[in-house]
Amino acid sequence: MDSKFSKSWINMRIHYDTIARSGILNEFIEKNNLKQNYHMIDMCTGSGSFLIWALKQGLFPNRAILVDNDINLLKSIKSNLRQNFKNIYVIKSNTNNLDLTISDKSQKKFDVSIVKENCDTYEIKDTQPHIISYSAAIDLMSKSSIDICLNKINHYNILFLSLCFDGKVKWKLSHPYDKYIMSYFNKHQSYDKGFGKALGYKSIDYVSKKARELGYEIKIADSPWIIQNESLDDITFLKRYVSDIKKSLFHMDGIDRSMLRRWHNDKIDSITNKSIKVQVGHKDLLLYKK
Ligand SMILES: C[S@@+](CC[C@H](N)C(=O)[O-])C[C@H]1O[C@@H](n2cnc3c(N)ncnc32)[C@H](O)[C@@H]1O
Repeated sequence: MDSKFSKSWINMRIHYDTIARSGILNEFIEKNNLKQNYHMIDMCTGSGSFLIWALKQGLFPNRAILVDNDINLLKSIKSNLRQNFKNIYVIKSNTNNLDLTISDKSQKKFDVSIVKENCDTYEIKDTQPHIISYSAAIDLMSKSSIDICLNKINHYNILFLSLCFDGKVKWKLSHPYDKYIMSYFNKHQSYDKGFGKALGYKSIDYVSKKARELGYEIKIADSPWIIQNESLDDITFLKRYVSDIKKSLFHMDGIDRSMLRRWHNDKIDSITNKSIKVQVGHKDLLLYKK
């Protein structure tokens, strides 16, 4: 199956992801005095959403490594950073035209290595402690990929799994087919998205159980998207969200396409003409060794 993620969709999400992530990582960094001295590895980085969020929180790493196997997404990191931090940071390309250096007005700077590689096989070579993040990714992963990810924790590394989809979407206005569509959507979430058969929303329980077995501390917080059709951007995003659901489910075995079409058309109508709100459930998970 083609598991490539749409660049326009990933880029559109950045704003909503930025406001959705919880504060559990920030609190941990503050409490453990890591702010001045932390290294970041963002796995499945896509187009750099997590680094953008971290910088907006004032979490300026000493060094960042961003890993993904999709070069098209990786190539848009520079422009996304420039767009988000115009007049705040200077973002320069290094000689290979992919890696970056980011500096602030006081000339404090850090290097960003951008690596095209499979996250399952990527080896952490540096010996200093890292905050390793997977954002909007864990629900796409298989059991074995999650096991590999959990093994990256040691006494020094911290794992932050943000925006893990929890399988729940609440619409206000609700639609009589919402439940039906969600049952297919959650089935679709278990298809291969780049790591073999995905665990979908069950990944949250799987990670929590494994963390306990492995003796890791774990903190969990809600990080839902809560979106109303207030601005033009919200309306565009919500329309894209329901259209992408329709597109993904359309060829699934057993789905009633006339129900899917009706659901999609009614959602587009209510996004355009009524006042609506959607809550897409996510959890943030922070794991570390005591
Ligand atoms: C839903 S996107 C999330 C992107 C980004 N973390 C964000 O929050 O916007 C999932 C990402 O996982 C990447 N991906 C999927 N399978 C992968 C693999 N085996 N190795 C590396 N990256 C992978 C995709 O290319 C995509 O960028």
